Amino acid sequence: MRRALTLLSIALLAGGAAGQSLDERLTACAACHGAGGAPAPLANTPTLAGQPPLFLENSLVMIREGLRDVPAMKGLLDGVSDADLSAMAKHFAAQTLQPQPGPRDAALFARGQQLADGNRCASCHLPSYAGREQMPRLAGQREDYLLHSMRQFLNGQATGRDTIMAASLHGLKDEDLRALAHHLSQLAP
Ligand code: HEC
Ligand code: HEC
Repeated sequence: MRRALTLLSIALLAGGAAGQSLDERLTACAACHGAGGAPAPLANTPTLAGQPPLFLENSLVMIREGLRDVPAMKGLLDGVSDADLSAMAKHFAAQTLQPQPGPRDAALFARGQQLADGNRCASCHLPSYAGREQMPRLAGQREDYLLHSMRQFLNGQATGRDTIMAASLHGLKDEDLRALAHHLSQLAP
């Protein structure tokens, strides 16, 4: 109940009327996505700090147009100009990510590394997993969000997202996804 109310007040703050300044909007974004490089404070929510600007900009356009369905952001980007989306992308891309991963499970970490190497994830996301262009940073991302998004890709629920990811995860089991999420979340940015 408490969480629901908090989310509601964030949504109201964020959705509140056109005419909001960019700074007001960014404050609302940070309530869910993390402020000043800190990780997103909410479960299954991506940290945006240090993401490639093009990835953020593309995602914002897809979300504004309703092509990528993000219920938590419904209506939030209505009427926001392309220039403001770019400014939002630049704002978060310029932040230095300060991840706060949980304790490391050595076996799961090693298994995740093996799977990432074997499936050539780095060929797109870079060996550092910092991402580039339209490919997101994975290093230091919230573990629960990494798992959540990979499950969505694999289960065909990632509406509006690049189908290359479903292909890249093809044949992996849920325990593999858990190992990958653990490994990537533990990597320093
Ligand atoms: C009420 C919480 C909430 C607010 C406010 C919010 N978002 Fe989100 N946003 C989410 C969630 C949850 C997701 C992930 C949805 C999914 O894919 O399951 C998301 C996804 C995103 C993504 C895609 C990132 C990725 O790694 O795939 C971007 C970019 C984004 N939001 C930017 C913004 C910006 C900019 C604002 C402010 C205008 C904002 N969000 C406000 C909850 C929120
Ligand atoms: C051929 C290039 C390519 C390969 C190989 C690839 N990815 Fe991706 N990945 C992408 C692109 C592009 C996106 C962005 C999709 C979108 O937002 O529509 C993405 C998105 C993701 C996301 C979502 C992150 C977020 O912030 O929303 C995760 C998690 C991910 N990839 C993990 C992996 C893992 C793990 C592997 C290896 C098993 C892998 N990727 C291999 C191109 C690739």
